[in-house]
Amino acid sequence: MKFSKTHITTTLITSFALLTNAIDLEIGNKDSVCNAATDITKGIMDYYLGIRENGTIGMFQQPYYWWESGLAFGGMIDTWKFCNNDTYVSIIQDAINAQKGPHNDFTDVTNQTDVEANDDQLFWGFTVMEAAERDFPNNNDNDPSYAQMALDVYNSMAPRWDSDNCGGGLRWQILSNMSGWDYKSTIATSGVYALAGRLARYTNNDDFIKSADRILRWMKQSMFVYQKDDQDFYTVNDGAEIENGSCAVVNGAVWSYNFATMIMGTAYLYNTTNGDSKWGNELDKFIGGVEHYMLNTTGNNVLFEYQCDQWNRCNNDQRAFRAIVARVLGNVVQLAPNTGYASRAMKIINDSAEGAAQACSGGSDGKTCGINWGVNGWDGMYGLGEQIAALEVIQNTLIEQVPAPCTEDTCGEDVDDDDNISTIPVPTSTRVFTDVHTKTHVETVTISTIDEVFYTGN
Ligand SMILES: *[C@@H]1O[C@H](CO)[C@@H](O)[C@H](O)[C@H]1NC(C)=O
Ligand SMILES: *[C@@H]1O[C@H](CO)[C@@H](O)[C@H](O)[C@H]1NC(C)=O
Ligand SMILES: *[C@@H]1O[C@H](CO)[C@@H](O)[C@H](O)[C@H]1NC(C)=O
Ligand SMILES: *[C@@H]1O[C@H](CO)[C@@H](O)[C@H](O)[C@H]1NC(C)=O
Ligand SMILES: *[C@@H]1O[C@H](CO)[C@@H](O)[C@H](O)[C@H]1NC(C)=O
Ligand SMILES: *[C@@H]1O[C@H](CO)[C@@H](O)[C@H](O)[C@H]1NC(C)=O
Ligand SMILES: *[C@@H]1O[C@H](CO)[C@@H](O)[C@H](O)[C@H]1NC(C)=O
Ligand SMILES: *[C@@H]1O[C@H](CO)[C@@H](O)[C@H](O)[C@H]1NC(C)=O
Ligand SMILES: *[C@@H]1O[C@H](CO)[C@@H](O)[C@H](O)[C@H]1NC(C)=O
Repeated sequence: MKFSKTHITTTLITSFALLTNAIDLEIGNKDSVCNAATDITKGIMDYYLGIRENGTIGMFQQPYYWWESGLAFGGMIDTWKFCNNDTYVSIIQDAINAQKGPHNDFTDVTNQTDVEANDDQLFWGFTVMEAAERDFPNNNDNDPSYAQMALDVYNSMAPRWDSDNCGGGLRWQILSNMSGWDYKSTIATSGVYALAGRLARYTNNDDFIKSADRILRWMKQSMFVYQKDDQDFYTVNDGAEIENGSCAVVNGAVWSYNFATMIMGTAYLYNTTNGDSKWGNELDKFIGGVEHYMLNTTGNNVLFEYQCDQWNRCNNDQRAFRAIVARVLGNVVQLAPNTGYASRAMKIINDSAEGAAQACSGGSDGKTCGINWGVNGWDGMYGLGEQIAALEVIQNTLIEQVPAPCTEDTCGEDVDDDDNISTIPVPTSTRVFTDVHTKTHVETVTISTIDEVFYTGN
């Protein structure tokens, strides 16, 4: 992702007369949801370059970056599955094919290689994992399967685990000359965790569980994942600058996509361990974090982006994050069915979908989606992020009707070398906890609580 700490764009249309033809939605009704998906996807395609003359396949127009293309196509794979609608299959296949890079792992990608960060690669990794689990048709018989590509992304990212600084974790950047190289990043680290969880279930190979377990242990030791003494949920912090080999000051910004990747990995781990309460208890606390931070309690409990929505200052990247939140809440419903986790996730999806449908009532088509799902209408905002977030939350009201994600043993493809996976080493954190239960620790760690950490000087 491009460095977004200073680049804030908010777009507000005030000159349009507000139209009232919102998207009609009966949540959980397949025809109604799929009609809404058609309307919203049309809005997504308005930003897509790959269907324009001389346009680049797989890319949306500026200022939407490459990672967000990956996110958008992942959501559209679900639309294909949930609605049994083949309209965009070849567009999605062509996009993956054009952007997968020479090693099929989304590295060394034309036009991205000099700027690509771990989180950028990750979101395309999620897209091919989604394709594998949803049994999306392969593009070309000569290509590796989507599952193989997802494994390749994992195997490309996991060796970037850096034990030499802060005892583990991934840096934000891949390239040492990029701003953010010195930042141990939650989205990068939790991304490997999430892929490990999914591949654990997909391949039934316990080595992935071992890696995921070590990643989570390190994130807790480093207070990237943090449970305050008086709270029964997790705060997922954004990361920490490496200073003298240590991560002493944790950036306390809370972004919903960091919670999402933790929920994703944990839901798959819960499922592949046949509902082990160890993972159930973790899932409980990550969902609790979303409930605590990410619901607008004065706006019908719809999802919002805590860190920036309060000041109407979400940038283009941040305005898309709820798409992945909605998708992983769907994962919880599928992978922990008939549990309290599933009903809590489903409630967030239902409440937010109602609001999102109301919010998709703007622009010249009367169907453009706004950002605030709690206002019973369009708030004048628009963009690719608004469209894909609304699509994913609305279509996930169907999640209880969708077949379970494939594995190698069910509808999935075999992956060749699941005996040759990159395993995360044991964390060598310098922090020594004297009591893991009370989280007493001997090294001083500062959790910064700067709410507007990204907005100074703008
Ligand atoms: C399939 O999707 C396309 C484009 O979104 C839409 O025009 C069409 O009506 C959909 N078909 C069905 C059967 O819903
Ligand atoms: C597309 O490329 C062709 C060949 O370079 C050029 O003639 C044409 O004007 C371009 N079209 C657009 C819309 O840029
Ligand atoms: C790379 O960027 C150039 C210039 O914008 C564009 O024409 C080309 O299609 C891009 N290629 C890919 C694979 O993104
Ligand atoms: C960073 O390093 C890469 C790889 O060596 C190089 O291709 C790129 O141009 C460099 N970027 C900058 C901004 O110097
Ligand atoms: C890192 O080391 C430098 C030089 O020894 C020192 O000035 C600085 O205070 C150290 N920073 C931290 C966070 O310990
Ligand atoms: C794992 O997921 C499958 C598919 O949705 C589901 O049938 C099964 O009950 C789940 N296992 C547990 C322990 O929840
Ligand atoms: C929450 O919803 C209320 C009611 O619609 C709205 O006024 C407020 O701006 C929302 N808060 C945020 C941070 O979006
Ligand atoms: C969500 O909505 C669906 C469809 O109306 C309904 O079947 C389900 O009970 C709702 N679940 C929750 C937890 O609100
Ligand atoms: C295992 O993976 C490494 C790195 O990708 C590769 O060099 C090696 O040949 C692989 N070994 C086997 C037995 O597949």
